[in-house]
Amino acid sequence: MYFSKIVSTGAYVPEKIVTNDDLSKIVDTNDEWIVSRSGIKNRHFSEDENTSVLASKAAKEILKKINKDPKEIELIVVATVSGDYTTPSVACLVQAEIGAENALAFDVGAACSGFIFGLSVADKFIKTGVYSNAIVIGAEVLSKYLDFEDRGTCVLFADGAAGVYIERSEKGGILGEELGSDGGKGMSLTGGHSQVVNAFNGQKKEGKDFFLKMDGRVIFDFATRKAPKSITALLENAGITKDEIDFVLPHQANSRIVEVVSRKLKIPMDKFYMNMHEYGNTSSASIPIALNEMMEKGLIKEGNKMVMCGFGAGLTWGSMLVEF
Ligand code: UT7
Repeated sequence: MYFSKIVSTGAYVPEKIVTNDDLSKIVDTNDEWIVSRSGIKNRHFSEDENTSVLASKAAKEILKKINKDPKEIELIVVATVSGDYTTPSVACLVQAEIGAENALAFDVGAACSGFIFGLSVADKFIKTGVYSNAIVIGAEVLSKYLDFEDRGTCVLFADGAAGVYIERSEKGGILGEELGSDGGKGMSLTGGHSQVVNAFNGQKKEGKDFFLKMDGRVIFDFATRKAPKSITALLENAGITKDEIDFVLPHQANSRIVEVVSRKLKIPMDKFYMNMHEYGNTSSASIPIALNEMMEKGLIKEGNKMVMCGFGAGLTWGSMLVEF
């Protein structure tokens, strides 16, 4: 059996930065509330670039760093819940844009756990010897789903894309995972059309049906219960102690969630990486954006062990143990 090693990372976020003060001009909120409840100060919103544009720019960055010919890429998985179209997939659009004509390309939709789910799927193709490499990207333009009259959501979510190139390896790389779903609580975070509207059923589209809606308390409770349990199970199954972990990279939803997870796990906060203050919650893209930032800062050294943990809509969660 093979392992999948992370060889390169890359990211792209839209240029436009929107501050908490900018939002307070269009919705009844303020910087103090947003920072104290979520840790978010700024976020990037796309002006005209859709999800596949962000994802393609991230993919080009990933490949440029290792001077890799796109034609050698065997698999492209894009984790997203905000694709440009219902079809084609973002992954197919990326394939065309970067010229990865020999790759299999498809999307995975698991919201804020999406990058971990996508990496898990790609890892299986590599572990079983089907492919020897893959690009896995998390990409979202969530601003197009935001209701800028709903202060409970529009201050939290944002746009961005990032990902990794993984390659077959004899050791190291992805060492373990713990993934799960709880569809029973799915309606506490929804987006997109729920109505069946067609020419023959007499239904009319409702204006706000399209937007993200969230019961923040339910998600907060879920994340602070599930993430510690999932990480504990992951480490137990891998036979690794908390002390052997160099970094925990959580989904960048909310600094208060991360503080509770740190306290429950008794893993000190200085092992947790956070950058939601600059990017907001970019769902599938949040973990790889942070990972790329850590790489570019030179924080991660060969042999370091990291736990990545995503949680959110579905509801879904996923933890993964990676050795660099
Ligand atoms: O990727 C996973 C995605 N989701 C999450 O990570 C969200 C998890 N949940 C949370 O982080 C928190 O529940 C929130 C940050 C969303 C909200 O914090 P909270 O402490 O649970 O606040 P709340 O929803 O209970 O609202 C408290 C008050 C309410 O006012 P009243 O009813 O007490 O007068 C809200 O109307 O805060 C008000 N409020 C705001 N005030 C200023 C809600 N949003 C805002 C806002 N600015 N943006």
